[in-house]
Amino acid sequence: MAAMVSLACGGGAESTDALGVLRDPPPGDFERIPPEPGELDPFAQNARLGRGMNIGDALEAPVEGQWGVRLQYRYFELLQETGFDSLRLPIRWSSHAAETAPYTIQPEFMARIEWAVGHALARDMPVIINVHHYDEIQEDPAGHSARLAALWRQIGEHFADYPAGLYFEVLNEPKLDPMTDAAWNAVLAESLAAIRESNPGRTVLVGGTEWNKWYTLDEVVWPEDDQNLIATFHYYEPFSFTHQGWSGGGPEGTTWGTEAEYTRLETDFAEAAAWSASANRPLHVGEFGVRNVAAIADRAAWTAAVVDQCAEHGMSFAYWDLVSNFNAYDDVKGAWIPELRAALVE
Ligand code: GLC
Repeated sequence: MAAMVSLACGGGAESTDALGVLRDPPPGDFERIPPEPGELDPFAQNARLGRGMNIGDALEAPVEGQWGVRLQYRYFELLQETGFDSLRLPIRWSSHAAETAPYTIQPEFMARIEWAVGHALARDMPVIINVHHYDEIQEDPAGHSARLAALWRQIGEHFADYPAGLYFEVLNEPKLDPMTDAAWNAVLAESLAAIRESNPGRTVLVGGTEWNKWYTLDEVVWPEDDQNLIATFHYYEPFSFTHQGWSGGGPEGTTWGTEAEYTRLETDFAEAAAWSASANRPLHVGEFGVRNVAAIADRAAWTAAVVDQCAEHGMSFAYWDLVSNFNAYDDVKGAWIPELRAALVE
């Protein structure tokens, strides 16, 4: 192994190895004071998330880098400099943990997540970590519920002393039968209880089924004695437009922006907001975005329309995503796509 030569000390310092290859610097310091039970107001916690970004296709690939994205130190700097308030990190824990009890998470993977979380918290940027792409639990909820809870028990214990800026999200996009509402509620109860064993004061995000549609939030069994939760939904409507040319979307060249389409979007958000008011739970739009093959004017108009709705209804958001195929940032050019940057943070 090449010897590490540190160029400077402290957080954010970059270092090169003996061959001069740039290494990821370690995160800087942050206070390890966990939130006390009852201390956090979930609405204030949601407001802290503000305008956020997903770094997709990195830690959610079976192996980081396999889908062309590796987390980089400069992404954290970039997001903060540009004015994003928070970060959502999709993570595929299920391919980095044993298949049999006690379902031990690989220590090097845990360390990688700790590195990423540390970089966000050291710059006071709230960060959501989730369980993403746990495909097996979608196929067999009851058979994998104990394993998901065991993952959360380990994640929870590992990060138990982390500050309120670290948020947990139980499971990305519970789907459909066999992940019915009833199946999801059982899985959720077991995993939330596992989280609360070590993290009684932490803010946790929970979404509904059908890939986190807003209209399934009402089917979630919300624990009456746990107010420190933020409800989350994903918005990709109309799917034919946002996912054009991919994954069941419409043909490339599908446009967006008629009056009826704006009205539909506003109606969807009004419905979500009405649920939030009646349930007294804050709302986070954890994913929304348009594939980068769509016309930029339409992509930007749709993105701006969602951001406007979030502002109008007091919802926080995380755009999908930074550098992958819904990207707001062009990592080859090293530049934001100006229309999307404007829609998201200006
Ligand atoms: C979901 C999927 C992710 C996909 C994104 C946009 O989060 O899990 O893989 O890229 O939606 O479709």
